[in-house]
Amino acid sequence: MHSPQIVEIKKIINETKTVKTFIFDFPPKNVKPGQFMMVWNFEDEKPMSISIIDTIKDEIGISIRKVGPFTEAIHSLQVGDKLGLRGPYGHGFEIKGSKILAVGGGIGMAPLAAFATDARSKGVTVDVISAATTKDELLFMNSLKSTDITAYACTDDGSFGFCGFATEFMEKILQENDYDHVVTCGPEIMMKGVFDIIDKLKIPAQFSFERYMKCGFGLCGQCCVDNVGWRVCVEGPVFSSDDVRLISEFGKYKRDASGIKHKI
Ligand SMILES: Cc1cc2nc3c(=O)[nH]c(=O)nc-3n(C[C@H](O)[C@H](O)[C@H](O)COP(=O)(O)OP(=O)(O)OC[C@H]3O[C@@H](n4cnc5c(N)ncnc54)[C@H](O)[C@@H]3O)c2cc1C
Ligand code: FES
Repeated sequence: MHSPQIVEIKKIINETKTVKTFIFDFPPKNVKPGQFMMVWNFEDEKPMSISIIDTIKDEIGISIRKVGPFTEAIHSLQVGDKLGLRGPYGHGFEIKGSKILAVGGGIGMAPLAAFATDARSKGVTVDVISAATTKDELLFMNSLKSTDITAYACTDDGSFGFCGFATEFMEKILQENDYDHVVTCGPEIMMKGVFDIIDKLKIPAQFSFERYMKCGFGLCGQCCVDNVGWRVCVEGPVFSSDDVRLISEFGKYKRDASGIKHKI
């Protein structure tokens, strides 16, 4: 059940200088936006969100930012090369509300792209804030717009869209619109800012967490969050705002592969 399925890379999309999307033939009948796959390159295995769920072509896509040895190795692969995929794993996003604001920072846009496309196809209004350090690193602006989703850009350096953080822009558009739900994924410091805003305005929300993962299906305990003990790979990675309120380490620290705490 947890054996990797060996699949060929069918297509590679160069999204930015640091992000590539890899497309695989993988019937997505049980795949939900917000879930992740364990990706195996026959040497190491790492968790990656599903960014494209195409039920017509029976494909999934995984968008990978080059940050270290594993992701560099994946970026060097070509169409036709093989990888192992295990999953889908975890508790994904639920479609709640009728007008949803999705707030994504950097590669956190990956699961939000799948969520927004799915929710829009079911008739729900979804506006997206895609935030990046600079214009060249903005993700999925064109693909989202082609699916009739309003996508706002925010860049830290002001090279495109709103100049400033996603949370600053979020406060601005929340004053002008009646969103009844928020979904978010990105750097935890950004998600903490999102939490503080939705908490003040009493808007329910869902947060996609990242914690160090080894097994991906609840066995090893590596990804547990403190005090409540939830496994991010099983009870998460998507948690409701009510659940997030109980996670004492949220926005403060996370653990590395050996369990050592690192400040966020
Ligand atoms: C649920 C989930 C979904 C993710 N989705 C994506 C995605 O869609 N696209 C993407 O580019 N990245 C995603 N990541 C992060 C991705 O797993 C790491 O970037 C990758 O493992 C880095 O490996 P590396 O060897 O290239 O870099 P390293 O130099 O080893 O690490 C770089 C960073 O990645 C973190 N990391 C390394 N190994 C793991 C691991 N086994 N589990 C969790 N974090 C790890 C490290 O703590 C460090 O912060 C996701 C992580 C989680 C937990
Ligand atoms: S990664 Fe093993 S329990 Fe979550």
